[in-house]
Amino acid sequence: MTSASPSKDLYAVAGNPVAHSQSPFIHARFAEQCGQDLAYERLLCPLDGFKASIEAFAAQGGHGCNVTVPFKFEAYALAARRSERAELAGAVNTLRFDAEGWWGDNTDGLGLVRDIEHNAARPLAGLDVLLLGAGGASAGVLGSLVAARPARIVLANRTADKALALQASHAAWATQHQVTLQACALAEVESKAGQGFDMLINGTSASLSGAGVPVQGRVLKPGALALDMMYGGAAQTFLDWARSQGAQTRDGLGMLVEQAAEAFFLWRGVRPDTAAVLQALRERLTPA
Ligand code: ATR
Repeated sequence: MTSASPSKDLYAVAGNPVAHSQSPFIHARFAEQCGQDLAYERLLCPLDGFKASIEAFAAQGGHGCNVTVPFKFEAYALAARRSERAELAGAVNTLRFDAEGWWGDNTDGLGLVRDIEHNAARPLAGLDVLLLGAGGASAGVLGSLVAARPARIVLANRTADKALALQASHAAWATQHQVTLQACALAEVESKAGQGFDMLINGTSASLSGAGVPVQGRVLKPGALALDMMYGGAAQTFLDWARSQGAQTRDGLGMLVEQAAEAFFLWRGVRPDTAAVLQALRERLTPA
């Protein structure tokens, strides 16, 4: 299953599909930069065989793994101990195979917040934020978004009940952080927009089915930041639309690198410098 030298500490990204994952590239750059002798592979798990694949990987000497679609919920169940942010998300994207019980964390939300606050230099505190979607992507980041203490987050979803459920599971957390957390159907967003949102985060997969952007441009305040958690072609429709509305735009590549950096820190205890790796990744993905 693995081709890595047994002398190196072994990590992987587990998913299905996993061939497209940029994580091996990102972690190899982190390892070079930090002088860490590790190997990082792709682990394609059968759809009905995630647990067996991960247990075999650990038995072969794996130290931990990242987990991607569609296994983040199974990874949550597999972890014996979990971080608070993983508990809030109900999903795990990083496992560390500790002898005292596997540790499960979710670094997606922190990755998103770091990208917004550090890379885009937009502190979230006090802002009015619209989060589109209430599926796995939005659930994974909501806890960390709340912890950054915007004034308000409106969760809007095509299926209103899913937004309401996400609001309910984060209600105590939002109260604790003095954040107003509201949920509504997409059709109700305009009635909640007030003077417009400072930030729009797209956590829907609408573009994958060729659907347009499910809100009107007038929900954005002039100069708002519009971020899609996807990147490449999947983010293009949303980003083109947002730019045409006068928004500053950002794709999900920064979040991808930042969530990886946090996973690297969990495993290795050192924080890589993300700027150079983000730049290298962008160049790698830009068609010549
Ligand atoms: P992911 O893990 O990528 O979040 P998901 O859990 O299937 O995937 O969630 C997809 C999200 O995109 C959901 O919020 C979904 O809305 P529903 O809950 O109503 O299904 C949203 N979505 C998908 N296609 C959409 C479309 N054409 N318009 C608006 N929202 C859409």
